[in-house]
Amino acid sequence: MTQTSILVARAIFPEVLEVLSQHFQVESNQSDEVLTAEVLKQKMHGKVGALTTGSERIDAALLQANPQLKIVANMAVGFNNFDVPAMTAAGVTATNTPDVLTETTADFGFALLMATARRIIESEHYLRQGLWTKWSYDMFAGAEVHGSTLGIIGMGRIGQGIAKRAAHGFGMRVIYHNRSRLSADLEATCKATYVSKDELLRTADHVMLVVPYSAESHHTIGAQELSRMKPSATLVNIARGGIVDDAALAVALKNKQIAAAGLDVFEGEPALNPALLTVPNVVLTPHIASSTVKTRLAMAQLAADNLVSFFTSGHALTPLNQVAAKSAT
Ligand code: GLV
Repeated sequence: MTQTSILVARAIFPEVLEVLSQHFQVESNQSDEVLTAEVLKQKMHGKVGALTTGSERIDAALLQANPQLKIVANMAVGFNNFDVPAMTAAGVTATNTPDVLTETTADFGFALLMATARRIIESEHYLRQGLWTKWSYDMFAGAEVHGSTLGIIGMGRIGQGIAKRAAHGFGMRVIYHNRSRLSADLEATCKATYVSKDELLRTADHVMLVVPYSAESHHTIGAQELSRMKPSATLVNIARGGIVDDAALAVALKNKQIAAAGLDVFEGEPALNPALLTVPNVVLTPHIASSTVKTRLAMAQLAADNLVSFFTSGHALTPLNQVAAKSAT
């Protein structure tokens, strides 16, 4: 066995752990305890590589305490748990898992949109509570999805996947806002029209958030933005906690300033703003947008492949940074 030691910071598929064990000396965490920053820093001691999830923060303090570290492979496409500039400065390669989750996550965005607009969860709770005694003309009457206008904020790969579903499958008019405009070809494929954020908020029947989290995108949707949306509108966040001001959203939902929201991600998750639990017009899921067996396995495999490739060929497969200082060997 090689002496290359790595840390797998959270539980992963046993078959992926097995592959890693064929290449590395692995310290794993199959009991899946969430590691505090201090414990993570300690567990990194002596490790040259690590496989993390979005729950582990890789920052300057951890890097300083672990100068031997060469690569951290995140099992997520989002990487706001990484301080990439600090990793680059420390010569540590950062990788994520793009592409393998795009379509699955776009499916889930649509599922959450449908559940929210068509009040599926609210009506199911009503039924389970034994409250359904008769058919009524307006029972859980929701918002139309097909033929309505979908506003997508963040038009990367997942946003484009959602746009295609909306335009081609549901005959929706798709408008989008993004830091940069798509090429004319991509706009045509997605049947999506670029608009300002303000126009999107004012005209969309449904707003879908798929923008990566950064200081710039913090509270992309706050009280002011919510006040610009239609009272009949729904809001779906499959991006990251912090993109929406959850406290402001809870107030807007309570006051019926917008009709409903579907949230897969939360500020400070897994803790939730308790006000969200007191309003009926919100669908809440525990950060599962990419969670099919096939896709989560593909994500774990890609994270593992990044480690194997880095230490065998010197190159990570999906690097987030260019690192000159520390090579694999
Ligand atoms: C999930 O949130 C991911 O970034 O992959």
